[in-house]
Amino acid sequence: MSKLAKISFLKAEPPKGGVVVILAGEELCLGPVAGDVVSGLEGGLKRAASIAGFTGKKKSSLDLVAPAGSNLDRLIVFGIGKPEELAADDWRAFGGAVLAVLQKAGAEKAVVLLDGPESVDLTGEAAAEFAMGAKLRAYAFDAYKSKKADEEAKKDLDLTLAVADPKGVKKAWGAASALADGVILARDLVNEPANVLGPVEFAAKAEALSKLGVEVEILGEKEMKKLKMAALLGVAQGSVRPPRLAVMRWNGGKKGQAPVALVGKGVVFDTGGISIKPAAGMEEMKGDMGGAAAVVGAMHAIAARKAKANVVGVIGLVENMPDGNAQRPGDIVTAMSGTTIEILNTDAEGRLVLADALWYTQDRFKPAIMIDLATLTGAVLVALGNLNAGLFSNNDELADKLLASSKTSGEPLWRLPLSKDYDKIIDTPNADVKNTGGRWAGSITAAQFLQRFANDVPWAHLDIAGTAFGAPKDDICQSWASGYGVRLLNQLVADHYEG
Ligand code: BES
Ligand code: MN
Ligand code: ZN
Repeated sequence: MSKLAKISFLKAEPPKGGVVVILAGEELCLGPVAGDVVSGLEGGLKRAASIAGFTGKKKSSLDLVAPAGSNLDRLIVFGIGKPEELAADDWRAFGGAVLAVLQKAGAEKAVVLLDGPESVDLTGEAAAEFAMGAKLRAYAFDAYKSKKADEEAKKDLDLTLAVADPKGVKKAWGAASALADGVILARDLVNEPANVLGPVEFAAKAEALSKLGVEVEILGEKEMKKLKMAALLGVAQGSVRPPRLAVMRWNGGKKGQAPVALVGKGVVFDTGGISIKPAAGMEEMKGDMGGAAAVVGAMHAIAARKAKANVVGVIGLVENMPDGNAQRPGDIVTAMSGTTIEILNTDAEGRLVLADALWYTQDRFKPAIMIDLATLTGAVLVALGNLNAGLFSNNDELADKLLASSKTSGEPLWRLPLSKDYDKIIDTPNADVKNTGGRWAGSITAAQFLQRFANDVPWAHLDIAGTAFGAPKDDICQSWASGYGVRLLNQLVADHYEG
């Protein structure tokens, strides 16, 4: 499929030629400019629509090639359903769906008339959402395809959105475009294979945020040893590739104001270690850094749109390999917090990485809130499939804020419980805690483990094992990696921690 070369905004007026998309609500109601476009059509729009059975239903489309009575190459009528019921989510999805129609038509240049029936609230925000949907839909991970199929060899699409108030849209698009870039960055990181993206290479991607004004520090093995991060280092010790801890700071808020802390699991590849995983499907574990990718993507969005907030991102980057020097089941390590951990299964490695990353983050930055994201458990897929990420929190207010921002951003979350009784499941006679609680309630016992390292800071854990990759394709994502979490985190910061 052809990609998106650029998006520009122009004042809406009837185009004189080329490929044009207009919006139609149910019963074929059109905006004034679209009305002008169809007024000259011989035979009218009504006849074509009735023959094709097009009624303006949401996301349906009618493609008129070289319509008689106009100079247009193509007039695509895109259905938006009941105009008065549309929300941000819909405009994002419409952008994606229209892009798909244009790709299918092989268009290299197109104008979308973003005007609609009177009842449509086509503000700058809606148009920016539309543009973001198109940009996200166009994303494909094809850097390694040396031969493109014929249809893919097409020129990239040059898309113009014709709107009532281009200036207003451009402002909203500044922020939405920064966000889309953050999502795309996260998708790229997750899609990238582990031979290319090891801990050192991933850290370099975090370092690259410095060009946006983010302060970045990279800690190596020596520094982490000094900090006594034995839980994280234990996971890394089976790999020839050394671990890294990347710290990213965006200081766009008031000086001295406690930051929002984002912490990510960055296991660049998870073989399971000595408790090795079965071969089938193991390639998916190149995506076991989806939490870290979401944090980097969110930091990108937040910095690129110059958010008035203090945000710190911390990601633990390791590779989990079996090796003569790998950690064994039965090993006991002392985490940075002083907590001793008995390793019963080396495949429960994400929580070990996060144990030190979380403790370090709260200890150093004293954040107002701390949110970790991790492709942590297969069990969250059993519970929620790929349609919701699991949310765990020690703080109802933070959980509610996250649930609300999840609705606005369109990245679904479902809260799961934590409690003292679940916590007991990870007690062990041999140490303070063990790293697995067995098969039942696997996502909850993993979250209970993390909670012990959050040290009473208002904290939330998002288990994104089902949503970071392999989720069903949709209007705005055709890629294996979804970039899940970037929009949600950006929305949370925008909703509650700016200004
Ligand atoms: N990275 C995996 C979890 C995972 C599974 C992510 C499937 C995405 C898709 C994690 O490190 C893991 O292996 N978890 C184990 C924990 C168990 C050993 C307690 C699991 O879920 O099986
Ligand atoms: Mn694992
Ligand atoms: Zn893992």
